[in-house]
This record gives sequence, C-alpha cells and structure tokens, in this order.
Amino acid sequence: MMDEAQEDLLEHEDISHKPFSPPYNIPPLRSTRLHVQRSNVCSRAYFVVVMVFFHVYILNVIALLLYVHYNNGPGDLVSGDGASPAPVINTDGRLPQPAPSGRELHVEEYSQSFSLHRMEGIRVGHVQHVSVVPDRTHEMRTLSLKPLLFEIPGFLSEEECRVVVQLAQLKGLMDSQAATPSQDQAELNQPLLSLSTEEIFSLLDLNQDGFLQKQEIVSHSRSRDGTWLSPDNLRQILTGLEASPTGILTLGEFRRVYDVSQRPRQQRSGSLHSHFKQRNRHTWLFQGSGSHRVLQTLRKRVIALTRLPSALLELSEPLQVSRYEHGDFTNAHYDSSSSQSETICAHTRLAGNTSALTEVSCRYLTVLFYLSSVEDGGESTFPVADNRTYDEQALVQDGVDLTDTQQACGKGNLRLTPTAGTALLWYNHLSDGRGWMGELDEYSLHGDCPVRRGVKWVANSWVNVDPDHQQQARYQRLVAQRHQAKSGMDEHYQSLSHSDLHLDL
Ligand SMILES: *[C@@H]1O[C@H](CO)[C@@H](O)[C@H](O)[C@H]1NC(C)=O
Ligand SMILES: *[C@@H]1O[C@H](CO)[C@@H](O)[C@H](O)[C@H]1NC(C)=O
Repeated sequence: MMDEAQEDLLEHEDISHKPFSPPYNIPPLRSTRLHVQRSNVCSRAYFVVVMVFFHVYILNVIALLLYVHYNNGPGDLVSGDGASPAPVINTDGRLPQPAPSGRELHVEEYSQSFSLHRMEGIRVGHVQHVSVVPDRTHEMRTLSLKPLLFEIPGFLSEEECRVVVQLAQLKGLMDSQAATPSQDQAELNQPLLSLSTEEIFSLLDLNQDGFLQKQEIVSHSRSRDGTWLSPDNLRQILTGLEASPTGILTLGEFRRVYDVSQRPRQQRSGSLHSHFKQRNRHTWLFQGSGSHRVLQTLRKRVIALTRLPSALLELSEPLQVSRYEHGDFTNAHYDSSSSQSETICAHTRLAGNTSALTEVSCRYLTVLFYLSSVEDGGESTFPVADNRTYDEQALVQDGVDLTDTQQACGKGNLRLTPTAGTALLWYNHLSDGRGWMGELDEYSLHGDCPVRRGVKWVANSWVNVDPDHQQQARYQRLVAQRHQAKSGMDEHYQSLSHSDLHLDL
C-alpha cells in the first residue's frame, strides 16, 4: 500500500508534501490522480482490466474442469493404463454423492436424491482396473454392451471358492440330518440344500421382533428360479397364522406350522415362466453379520465393485449357491422381470399394497461367481448378447429354440467357460435415464449349458431394486424404522448397521 502510494506520488511533483500520507487525504493530489488515470486509460488501466478478465476466465476454466472431474470422477472406475491410483472406495460402500441432508425426508421430497451407480462398458474388450480389495486391483473386461456384461478374473481366491462350496455342502448335510420324509422325491427343481426353519423364521421376521406378523409373511422375497418358500409352504404358514389366536407366530408355533408345510406334496404345477426350465440344485447362504467371514467379505467386494448403497445389498436376497452335475443345465431366462401394472416387486411388497398382485423378482444386476472350473461343458451362454436387434419371435428359428440350452448352446452369441474364482457382472435392467433402474434389458437373456464332465459350482448375488423409486425408498425406511423401534429399547446396543441403513436412505 505504501509502495503504491509512493509510486503514485513519484509520478507527481508533490513528492515533497507529506510523502507518507495516503493520497486520498490530500485534496490537491486527488485531482492530479484523476487526471493521470484519464490520460493513461489506454495503457495501464486497460492492462489491469484485461488481466482481471484473463484471470476470471482462467478461474472459470479451472472451476469447470473441477466440476466435470467431480461429477464423473468418483463414480468412474476407468483407468485405462492401470497407472492411475485406485479409486477411493468407502469402506461401507456408501454412495459418493452427498447424502440427503435431512434424516427425516418425506417421500415426496425424496425424489431422486440418490441414484444407482452404473459402470461404463466403453467397448467390448475394454479392460479397466477396479479396486475391490485393499491391497490390489482387479482387471475387469467388458464382454458385451447389450447386456452390459463384465468379467473379473480372480475375484475370489481358490481358497475362498472352496470355503463357499463347503459352506453350501455343510448346510446341505445339516438339512439331510434333519431328515424330511420326502427324500426319495428326486423331483427337478427341488432344492437339495435349503434353509433351516430358524433361518426361514428369521428371514421372514423383517422387524426382528421375534414374532411373525401376517404382513411379514406375505412380503417375503421370492424369485423366479427358486423361492424361499413355495406357494404351498406360504399358504400353509398363512393358514397357521390365521388359525393362531394371537394373530402372530412365535418361533415354536412357526416350527409346527412350517413342518406341516414341508410334508410331501403333489408336484408343483408348472414353473412361473414357460421359458424357464432348469436342472440343478441350490441353497441360500446369508451374508449378514454372524455369517462366515468369507461370505461377508464377498458382499463387501460386491458393494465396492458395484458402488451401490450398502443398504440395498443388505436388503437383497442372500447368496444363492448352485451345483450342476453331469447333464445339469438351465435354459435361457431372465433374472429379473419387466415391470407391468399388475406386478409388484417381491422384495418391497411389505411397503406396498397387500392386495393380490403377482409378485416378481426385481433384480437390478447379477454378480455370478464361478466356484469351480468344469472339465467339459457347463458354459454360461448369452444367446443374444450384442445382437444387432432383438425379437422374441426370432429366438426360434428353423425349429431351434435359442433358449433351449440342451439343444442350442453352440448357437448363442456369447459363451463363457467357467473358471474358478472368476466373477461375471451384468445389469438386468437398462437405466431409466435419470439414474434409477429402467426397463428389463432383453439382451440379458442367459442360461447354463449342460455339464458334460466334472461338477460346476456357481454362486449368484442379486441386487434387488424396485423400479418404482419411491416404493424402494418407502420399503427401506420401513425396515429402518422397525430396526429403530426395536433398538429403541436397548439403544446402547444399537449396531452401526442401523444408522448406516438410515443414512443410506
Ligand atoms: C392400493 O390399491 C388400491 C386399489 O388398487 C388403491 O386405491 C390404493 O391407493 C393403493 N394403496 C397404496 C398405498 O398404494
Ligand atoms: C439377431 O440379429 C439379427 C440381425 O439383425 C436378426 O436377424 C435376428 O433376428 C436377431 N436375433 C434375435 C433373437 O432377435
């Protein structure tokens, strides 16, 4: 300031007068200054103005670059050369976007306050590096764009594959000791390995209060290719509940009712979807707290890979582990369903209308893990992957049905050989263009070719999302509220996952 003042003063003859006073205190000097500015308007002031504009311009460019970077950056796992640092992934897999500020958001305000992350495929054959474990990155290769399908080799170690297979087998052993009288029933589509009665109870008991209410029973998750409970089971349980004087079931009462429903029954009338036929055996493994470390790790990796809110995965179906022996296959099918007015997502049913609508599976994406390598056969097939067009009628041509994997596995567009430890990820749905789940992707049709030699073990991890954004929000809030209502009694022991659940909303 003083330098400036002196400089100014040096330009005038007034230097001898009060050299250290600010110029604006001296009336004669002010007029002189004005005169000076006017005369230099083409050099000095102009230069200053240009420089100011130039700096503002540069700052604008920088701000724009930062804006673009932070809008694409954190959600972008792409790092073509692998040299760039691994993306920062929240340990709890929360969305990178700022969470909605108010914790008590109303459904109306909720709107699109969070969106579903979707990875970029770029092009077929593109390799990107993803960070799902702390100490290394995995290569993820784009296999097709329709559906958006990726392959990640080495997602599980061989040891981890063995553990998951063993856990599935252990569960089967436990169940066969519990000996249901229907063991000779070698019926197709009959799970060899299934949930224990306690697990079914716990699964149905959404608010975890130790009782089953009617609402909880009708809201259980159901999937097209294997249900928690068959419709028969469900009806039995519901009947038992309605017969109960209290209108609720305790574990003891449930056990009685459920065992009745497990008695041999006539073969289930045809599958829900005519396209769907399968021969394999499966079981379900819970991945929540208290489950085996490997199962929990696996879920964390899926959260890190998909970058979806952890609450979504916590409320999704458990891991389904399937075994395919010689000749076993599944015909080409969809894992999810197209939304229609008369259908409702099974997983969010609790939050919706309990009037009789058809329940369907709503699965945003599938992560499939190969737990074993197969000596011959057992490929995964995507018969219409990246086909130029899709026409359901064209699936049957010259008497060959492309969905019939026993006949037409060799004719599909894409076939993948199982390799232990490799994960496949594909989106069953397109985006709705606003960051939420849109229509079913018809190209996601897939099946399993018959195993010719060896045994194929796979696990499926599905992420359940309701295409109705508000319905999903309502459901998640309902579960969170029930968790809270329950933990209100013992706030000290309120686990972190409850608050996670809340924040993720
Ligand atoms: C339930 O369905 C009925 C009839 O379709 C409708 O009038 C009502 O608004 C629905 N309720 C909710 C909460 O969606
Ligand atoms: C695959 O694409 C070809 C070329 O567009 C088309 O003729 C054929 O019908 C498509 N297949 C299916 C199943 O839609």
